[in-house]
Amino acid sequence: CSLVSSNYLLFSAAPIHPDMVRFNVTTKHTAPIDGQKPGTSGLRKKVKVFIQPNYLENFVQSTFNALTAEKVRGATLVVSGDGRYYSKDAIQIIIKMAAANGVRRIWVGQNGLLSTPAVSAVIRERAGVDGSRASGAFILTASHNPGGPHEDFGIKYNMENGGPAPEGITDKIYENTKSIKEYLIAEDLPNVDISAIGVSNFCGPEGQFDVEVFDSASDYVKLMKSIFDFESIRKLQSSPKFSFCYDALHGVAGAYAKRIFMEELGAQESSLLNCVPKEDFGGGHPDPNLTYAKELVARMGLGKSSSGQEPPEFGAAADGDADRNMVLGKRFFVTPSDSVAIIAANAVEAIPYFSAGLKGVARSMPTSAALDVVAKNLNLKFFEVPTGWKFFGNLMDAGMCSVCGEESFGTGSDHIREKDGIWAVLAWLSILAYKNKGNLDGGKLVTVEDIVRQHWATYGRHYYTRYDYENVDAGAAKELMANLVKLQSSLDEVNGIVKGIRSDVSKVVHGDEFEYKDPVDGSISKHQGIRYLFEDGSRLVFRLSGTGSEGATIRLYIEQYEKDPSKTGRDSQEALAPLVEVALKLSKMQEFTGRSAPTVIT
Ligand code: G6P
Ligand code: ZN
Repeated sequence: CSLVSSNYLLFSAAPIHPDMVRFNVTTKHTAPIDGQKPGTSGLRKKVKVFIQPNYLENFVQSTFNALTAEKVRGATLVVSGDGRYYSKDAIQIIIKMAAANGVRRIWVGQNGLLSTPAVSAVIRERAGVDGSRASGAFILTASHNPGGPHEDFGIKYNMENGGPAPEGITDKIYENTKSIKEYLIAEDLPNVDISAIGVSNFCGPEGQFDVEVFDSASDYVKLMKSIFDFESIRKLQSSPKFSFCYDALHGVAGAYAKRIFMEELGAQESSLLNCVPKEDFGGGHPDPNLTYAKELVARMGLGKSSSGQEPPEFGAAADGDADRNMVLGKRFFVTPSDSVAIIAANAVEAIPYFSAGLKGVARSMPTSAALDVVAKNLNLKFFEVPTGWKFFGNLMDAGMCSVCGEESFGTGSDHIREKDGIWAVLAWLSILAYKNKGNLDGGKLVTVEDIVRQHWATYGRHYYTRYDYENVDAGAAKELMANLVKLQSSLDEVNGIVKGIRSDVSKVVHGDEFEYKDPVDGSISKHQGIRYLFEDGSRLVFRLSGTGSEGATIRLYIEQYEKDPSKTGRDSQEALAPLVEVALKLSKMQEFTGRSAPTVIT
């Protein structure tokens, strides 16, 4: 079929491979649908929005058009996701549209499952059965948002480097959705069985089209084995002193957890919670934090609903598409900001992939400065970027950054171009294995809590908390932010107000709106959050969320640096109480929003 030109097909009835199913291309008329602007991580809407006639089709065709027909024709593309409700239908539609747009091959993870980090790995690492390589992917996920017929679906496109499409492309996609008149689809292409591994060949007007269904975990597992010392983690897992627990919250991480933690590393089956991926995440909210990972939190002896049993030494959870992570010790929570700092501080010794040294480290602006202190001490290149993983991708492509993280439960490295939930867990297990090298036979286990407290003793501690005000009136949120910017014009005035609120907090020495100039492409991102920096290293940051779907979400990040090792063991809410009071009064939070308390505190 691949040798047959469309002319040949027109004039000859004799197919070269008579057993290959032929398909035709239909041009369907359509009209623009409002609101198809991709957010920070693709287009996310309720399922009932996505299943409207032409909704998905318009977006997919607009993506093909943005990539340009030239690049789409003959391409190999990945289509898969976190397995949420509507994924299976969406995959068949995208396959038919890809065939009609001249794509040469579609790769699908078995049952349509691939975690977001695994998609990134597949684009970068995988060779198809015929040696082909993928140049991009449609990832079907709404990340940590709930799934099911009444919940969210989402789609995003990732590029050749394995990272999310840059704004130039997503803007083009959006522009295309506003003027789309038609899309191409191979309506007569039969549905492909995505539950069975194998290749199906088809023959269309432009030649051969293949769909390859492959094992969702193999490529990712192979990559993880090339990064970490699995043998040392296996030893840790098999020690009676160590115990482990992983909660996939019924997201796609379950498909990897069994393979990696059980089969490769020898964890008990009973240590895996909610590791069967479900279309509705079992009705839960697949977000790995202290509020939503309830079962894990109880098992780890945190929160009110502790089970009474002795908690495991290590616990972790992932979100729906397995790019986020939460790491816990026995009765101990590791903040994401501390987590990335601790991984960076130990990477060279504990993780073979980094043994030659780190190229640099980076964090998003609202993430605490714990990583900054490590970078300074270890003399590492350091970058502070706006919120959003894409900013790290640029640094990594340029060889300037090895490890990075965000306060929003994202941690990762330059092995791929997405954050990586399972990688973060393996990094922590590697650090535990390294710290306990001589300890597993005799001696006391060095625990997660020991590692964190030791880190604080060496580098100081960044007390940290985040207050979220969800679904606030968008106008009120804007006014609150504008007022905070206006205040910054006179630091004397600010300090007068601050002293009037609490005399025991230090002085504001700088206030600005965070602006970032990308050192690689020179692009400038403005208005990335309002910062108040204090003389003692404390910070207040105010930001509007870029991922909310209703109204506005105000995020307030509060941070205080404590260098004195005798004072790093306090309760963080208590330690931060004076700064919190200053933040709320200075911003007039209640006056502007009408809220006397935040929706969520983390
Ligand atoms: C997504 C991105 C993250 C980012 C987060 C911010 O999860 O992948 O890189 O940190 O959104 O969310 P926010 O709601 O604070 O804008
Ligand atoms: Zn996610």
